[in-house]
Amino acid sequence: MPSPRSASPKLQAAMDEIADAVNLTIERLLPETDLAEATLYNAMRHGTLGGGKRLRPFLVMQSANLFNVPSARSRRVAAALEFVHCYSLIHDDLPAMDDAALRRGQPTVHKQYDEATAILAGDALLTLAFEVLAEPETHDDPRVRCALVSALAKAAGGHGMVGGQMLDLVAEQDDVEFDVGEVSRLQRMKTGKLMAFACEAGAILGGAGEHKKKALINYAHDLGLAFQVTDDILDVEADPQDTGKDTKKDADAGKATFVSTMGKEAAKSRAEMIVAQACRHLKVFEGRADLLDELAHYVLKRRA
Ligand code: IPE
Ligand code: IPE
Ligand code: MG
Ligand code: MG
Ligand code: MG
Repeated sequence: MPSPRSASPKLQAAMDEIADAVNLTIERLLPETDLAEATLYNAMRHGTLGGGKRLRPFLVMQSANLFNVPSARSRRVAAALEFVHCYSLIHDDLPAMDDAALRRGQPTVHKQYDEATAILAGDALLTLAFEVLAEPETHDDPRVRCALVSALAKAAGGHGMVGGQMLDLVAEQDDVEFDVGEVSRLQRMKTGKLMAFACEAGAILGGAGEHKKKALINYAHDLGLAFQVTDDILDVEADPQDTGKDTKKDADAGKATFVSTMGKEAAKSRAEMIVAQACRHLKVFEGRADLLDELAHYVLKRRA
């Protein structure tokens, strides 16, 4: 019997299938090497293979499915986005940022290797992502490839994930207090933007019209916010055995989260409201996005 906190068999099977497909693609794009700089590749493999929920790949491939995109294409975009996500985690875990020792049930990259290697592994994953998107195998129309590169650059950079990470550090300062609106902006940037790119990428690959593309972006943007609120709740409630990463660190670090600004129970209700809002954006797909709908509810229940 699945526990009430787990995904339904249908969602779990779809998530497993996509995780397997993206793992194979990552393995192919990041083979082992015996070059003198092999440590770099080993660190990149450590940071990308062997764990992770592969949620962003799921979003890319499910969104692309809505427009009948061949999975060979969406898989590559999914892997490219996962490279950016994994780079963000490797750098997020560094002593200069969250100083974390455990990630996906394994030592963080700087613990397994060293800080310089972790910085370089992150750098190389970020650039590899754009290399993969720019290659003709991703799509035969260069305009589509260019649109993907441009959208990922915007989502990952100063107006997106990296900007959000900066706000996360700014909020740690003793003389800075973020209100709910500011925390929400921080979280939409650091987590929501990459998730929004995931869904936007499916729409770009599928040549979707603006209306459906925007609906998917809005869904994922809200999903990302709810996902980060849940992450902040798990930091307080869960154990590393569940999450595979360090927990109970945000409060001591002085992080600005929904939990720190409104308390755990109010944060839970707010996350529920945001998920309901996320799912309303899917109405335009008339039931064909049921797994995306279910995923949003699963995000609230997850323990990892
Ligand atoms: C962790 O993301 C970082 C956040 C945005 C909260 P995930 O919880 O998706 O991490 P993995 O990929 O499953 O390890
Ligand atoms: C990080 O948020 C989000 C990123 C952009 C990497 P957290 O710092 O809360 O993520 P975890 O809890 O370490 O996974
Ligand atoms: Mg962080
Ligand atoms: Mg962290
Ligand atoms: Mg966290």
